[in-house]
Amino acid sequence: MACSLWPEAKFPEQKEFLSCLSYLCSMLHIHLLTVLPELLESPFSHSIMKRAQEKGLLEIHVHQLRKWAVNKYGMVDDYQYGGGAGMVMMCEPLANAIDELQKDYPFDEIIYMTPDGSRFDQRKANLLSLKGNLLIICGHYKGIDERIRQQYVTMEISIGDYVLSGGELAAAVVVDAIGRLIPGVLNDETSALTDSFQDDLLAPPVYTRPADFRGMKVPEILLQGDPKKVEEWRYEQALERTKERRPDLMSDV
Ligand code: ADE
Repeated sequence: MACSLWPEAKFPEQKEFLSCLSYLCSMLHIHLLTVLPELLESPFSHSIMKRAQEKGLLEIHVHQLRKWAVNKYGMVDDYQYGGGAGMVMMCEPLANAIDELQKDYPFDEIIYMTPDGSRFDQRKANLLSLKGNLLIICGHYKGIDERIRQQYVTMEISIGDYVLSGGELAAAVVVDAIGRLIPGVLNDETSALTDSFQDDLLAPPVYTRPADFRGMKVPEILLQGDPKKVEEWRYEQALERTKERRPDLMSDV
């Protein structure tokens, strides 16, 4: 999954140029730092994520953090000061990895996946899909040394109020949500715009053939072929569904 299309930048102005160029071409480079790269293989190897990479719109680089380990045994974590159960991911491997990667990729954001981060939502996905270079750190054990959070991390993301065994699955969720929003990734560009949450509304119900399934009929209006009426119906349904299921989203509607 290494970058083959783009030349390596040696000077700051080259890096800036490449960053602008990748923005103009809607190319997004996402780098992930992890101790479990295997966990991130499958999520990006199928369907829309695969197509995004084949189209040259998304590049995903998964880095084994142990490459920057402090000793030959691949050590990247240590006991926490003050005692207590659970290891902490050390400063040196993370700092060295970030320093090295930053030389070639001027990261727009250095993201740390953590349950105490700010909650991920469609708005953040939209924002991040417009960036050129992102680095995502997948935490493990008790998390990463606080000094890395203070010195390097620019954004901390949680995908919900529950604790996963590591940041990899959370990172896969974030990359998937971002990747499908890159212009050109979805065949029908408008389909991302009509997703749930894009306008603070849940998506309306959808139907396909047959028009009558075990006596349950598709709403008549969808069969009549009047696009304006269909659009109005969908909007009303979206409003109703959101009011019923997620009234918290409706404060601005
Ligand atoms: N790592 C562990 N749990 C997480 C969560 N809920 N969100 C993001 N990263 C995590």
